[in-house]
Amino acid sequence: TTVVFIDHAGARYEVEASPNKSLMQTALDHSVPGILGDCGGSCSCATCHAYVDERWAAMLPPKSETEVFMLEGVPDLRENSRLCCQLRVTPELEGIVLQLPEEQM
Ligand code: FES
Repeated sequence: TTVVFIDHAGARYEVEASPNKSLMQTALDHSVPGILGDCGGSCSCATCHAYVDERWAAMLPPKSETEVFMLEGVPDLRENSRLCCQLRVTPELEGIVLQLPEEQM
């Protein structure tokens, strides 16, 4: 599955993601700057924040209470904000585009 990360400066990282991996781990595996994943994916640091392009946002599972709570702490929360460690790669997400926020640069 192809996943596209676009950092705050506009640099584009198109990577091939393994099924069932989290989008956070996918970014780390491909050294995409702008996803830190400090807590290792346990939904407790919010350094894997990204904005999901609206074409794919509706295909994602709903946010857990913990994810909603953690997102409340990010500097620039938007309607399409998600934590990448809570999202798994599936074939339906082919081509998904994630914008990375400035604070994680
Ligand atoms: Fe920490 Fe996602 S990696 S909340």
